[in-house]
Amino acid sequence: MASIPLPPGAEGLASLAELPEEGWQDRWDRIIVDPAIKDRLLNFGTFYFGPRARYSPVGLPIHGLVVLEGPPGTGKTTLAGGLADRLARSLETPGLLFLVVDPHGLPSQLLGESQRAVARLFERTLPDVAARGRPVVVLLDEVEALAVNRGGASLETNPVDVHRATDAVLAGLDHVSATCRNVLFVATTNYVRGVDPAFLSRADLVERVALPGVEAVEAILGDTLREIQPAFHADPSALRPLAHGCVAQGLDARGLRKLIVRAVIQRRELSADPALLTLPDLERALEDLYAQE
Ligand SMILES: Nc1ncnc2c1ncn2[C@@H]1O[C@H](COP(=O)(O)OP(=O)(O)OP(=O)(O)O)[C@@H](O)[C@H]1O
Ligand SMILES: [Mg+2]
Repeated sequence: MASIPLPPGAEGLASLAELPEEGWQDRWDRIIVDPAIKDRLLNFGTFYFGPRARYSPVGLPIHGLVVLEGPPGTGKTTLAGGLADRLARSLETPGLLFLVVDPHGLPSQLLGESQRAVARLFERTLPDVAARGRPVVVLLDEVEALAVNRGGASLETNPVDVHRATDAVLAGLDHVSATCRNVLFVATTNYVRGVDPAFLSRADLVERVALPGVEAVEAILGDTLREIQPAFHADPSALRPLAHGCVAQGLDARGLRKLIVRAVIQRRELSADPALLTLPDLERALEDLYAQE
């Protein structure tokens, strides 16, 4: 099993896994994004855990922070795990640790509680894991909940508390990057304006993951269809009109995969045997989806 127990008192951590892990390749291979994005992510990881150790942090300031931003359902969270798995397969040091920080697992921003929990996370828990000497990738998922934009905080929250919590994240990030050079943070957000600019300015790489275009839609639909019909090999042009319809509706990649589920549950015999699914079933599912609105 990839999953290993969390350190005691690890508030704010959702999971800890040791990679590579069988089955995690899908998180990289089956997330269809602009290949240039995947190249840059992989190249950054290779550089970060490799040659970068030789350089002075003043001469070449590197925080070890990658941000993936873009609309919901475009593969940001999945890709972060996929990147960690890919790096685990290529780095010389075995057994990369992949930690997921759950911002909702931290106390609320009231009365400085959040600030203390964030400080513990960055000053104790993460350095403890890093001290195991393995390469570590830390996923800061939905980082807009952690590094809240101090400029745009809502009126219900005490601005002083928001300031303190965000300050603690920034200080924590600086602390970990200065002391644990084997830790790479990958942050995701579908609401980049909600993320504090000082957090974003620390990023070494910000990648925008966009909604899929026609070709990506075809690839994602084809890949999802192969999941239920392993022999499925449509001529890509067969999916083109449907793909145009999906793009016109602004369907995200998660929604595309769910469209197949929607098509399957339209008919009892398909629900019992999804391999019988046909293109007209998919077209009807798309029509129904938007007729409902
Ligand atoms: N670009 C993509 N290519 C193929 N499948 C995708 C893609 N993006 C998302 N999916 C499908 O949707 C699932 C959910 O994606 P994921 O949770 O990574 O999206 P996200 O960008 O993190 O969304 P959110 O912003 O809502 O958290 C994936 O596991 C995959 O099945
Ligand atoms: Mg996500």
